[in-house]
Amino acid sequence: MPKRTSLTADRSSLRHRIRYAMRHPERIGPYLRRSARDMRLRLTHRDHVSYYRAVMASDTARDPRRAVGSRNEKRWLALGRMQFDYLTGHGLKPGQRMLDIGCGNLRAGWRFIEYLDPGDYYGIDISPDILIAAKKVLSERGLQHKLPHLTLTHDLTFDFLPEHHFDVVHAHSVFSHSPPQVIDECLAHVERVLAPGGFFDFTFDRTEGAEHHVLREDFYYRTENLIALAERHGLNAEFMDDWEELPHGQSKIRVTVPERDAKA
Ligand SMILES: C[S@@+](CC[C@H](N)C(=O)[O-])C[C@H]1O[C@@H](n2cnc3c(N)ncnc32)[C@H](O)[C@@H]1O
Repeated sequence: MPKRTSLTADRSSLRHRIRYAMRHPERIGPYLRRSARDMRLRLTHRDHVSYYRAVMASDTARDPRRAVGSRNEKRWLALGRMQFDYLTGHGLKPGQRMLDIGCGNLRAGWRFIEYLDPGDYYGIDISPDILIAAKKVLSERGLQHKLPHLTLTHDLTFDFLPEHHFDVVHAHSVFSHSPPQVIDECLAHVERVLAPGGFFDFTFDRTEGAEHHVLREDFYYRTENLIALAERHGLNAEFMDDWEELPHGQSKIRVTVPERDAKA
């Protein structure tokens, strides 16, 4: 598994935060403002999804592109292309059906919508604000005729979706903002919506030290724990080594249904 920098850092520790602040004094103000906002939102929203939906509402009101993690238009386009090129280079084909979990404002989604047949892209997200921004991107790109689904959800049980429908399920930069119970729920239910021979790709913030989170916004996981979690749900999970070569801070795992269990 290729090496990345900061793989053992515990960003939640006081020591790390003090050292980081000394290296980046200009980021202390924004960090304190974000901490105060997150504390207020945590007090007023009981469960993680409600809390994170409020974070997205606040971030999207300022700038939808930043809300999905891109500091400018150039980076937003590049991050979308990176996802698109990787997935089309690793199995996604026209004629297939795709479920994009946490589709955001279609940073990559608009490219998938353009590439796939009408109606075959299904984006879900917990944030109504980012879905409104997604519809704006869709119309700006002139992709109305592709009739994608853009649906609000509160959980990842997929109970409103048909069985064995999607060839590709995709979640980019979603588990990096998700506590273990959200990932567990997703892995518990994804097999039901995966078509025979289908796969589920997700990215995550990787640590080789202790698993931790920062402000319950950013979560860091050990690869072997996510692979073991997938296996507990009867799934195969593979670390995607070649994704590591790309200029992206997260890592990627591909989940498949073992052959013996695959439903015809
Ligand atoms: C960093 S953005 C990435 C958006 C998109 N995947 C992309 O790469 O442009 C994370 C998105 O996931 C959504 N999200 C976070 N937790 C989620 C969950 N449990 N279920 C569905 N969407 C979620 C957020 O609202 C946000 O739109």
